[in-house]
Amino acid sequence: MKRSLRHCAAPAKLNLFLHVTGRRDDGYHLLQSVFQLIALHDELHFTLRDDDAIVRVTDIAGVPAEDDLAIRAARLLKAAAAERGLPTTGVDIAIDKRLPMGGGIGGGSSDAATTLIALNHLWDTQLSRAELMRIGLSLGADVPFFLLGRNAFVEGIGERLTPLDTPDSWFVLVHPGVSVPTPLIFKSPELTRDSKMVTIADFSERLPAFGKNDLQAVAARAFPPVADALEWLSDFGEARMTGSGACVFAAFASQDDADAALRRVPPEWRAWKTRTLAAHPMARWLQS
Ligand code: C5P
Repeated sequence: MKRSLRHCAAPAKLNLFLHVTGRRDDGYHLLQSVFQLIALHDELHFTLRDDDAIVRVTDIAGVPAEDDLAIRAARLLKAAAAERGLPTTGVDIAIDKRLPMGGGIGGGSSDAATTLIALNHLWDTQLSRAELMRIGLSLGADVPFFLLGRNAFVEGIGERLTPLDTPDSWFVLVHPGVSVPTPLIFKSPELTRDSKMVTIADFSERLPAFGKNDLQAVAARAFPPVADALEWLSDFGEARMTGSGACVFAAFASQDDADAALRRVPPEWRAWKTRTLAAHPMARWLQS
């Protein structure tokens, strides 16, 4: 029987707040954010092959396999193993894509992180978490977070991670049907980049409502459906965008309250009820 690891979860995240505090010379932005794992996920299946090929066996509309962060992650891990003289094989990767793309909930980044975790185990390459994070960061600023395995206060461009315990909460997440290109929002002349630096002591008692998302005003102006969803959701409490959008969310005190809001979501929008996760479902596969 071919070795495989099936039903590997790649959970989504919410940015409970996201402050832009500066810009580096290379154009990347310095952020302060709390990244919260939530109980919505893609599912990936890995089956080793007899040859050396890395093959995505699932079609994903709009994402050619060569651009898929999961496939690129597998190739980078294979190359890192080869540099160390460690043998690897080919692998078939099936992706059950459930998370909306371009939604600000980290689906592609999480798929990449889950691929690194699963293949590091299946290939027995034994790279440390720090080494996987270095590979992850080269794929995208959000990937290292998903390799930490815990909720975190995230700084730098996404590579400075402080593990954090966050309060349990229910959320309703609304996707207003538009895809927001992240670079467009970060490049906007209207983006404010001078949020005051905060410390964990400033917000630890005030999650999930602390602060704001500095990308939200720019995204809501450029994409009116984002503004519409924020306005609709704000009837239920503090509504906020995650990442660079387009998804928006609000926290609810109970599952019943979240269900009641979910039943009223206008039919043209996709929406989910979800809750906080304390740890990444694949955390046990991660070496420290
Ligand atoms: O790293 P990732 O591919 O997710 O970033 C997409 C784009 O978002 C980057 O090309 C950059 O324009 C912008 N970005 C940024 N500062 C960050 C993260 C992303 O300017 N910390």
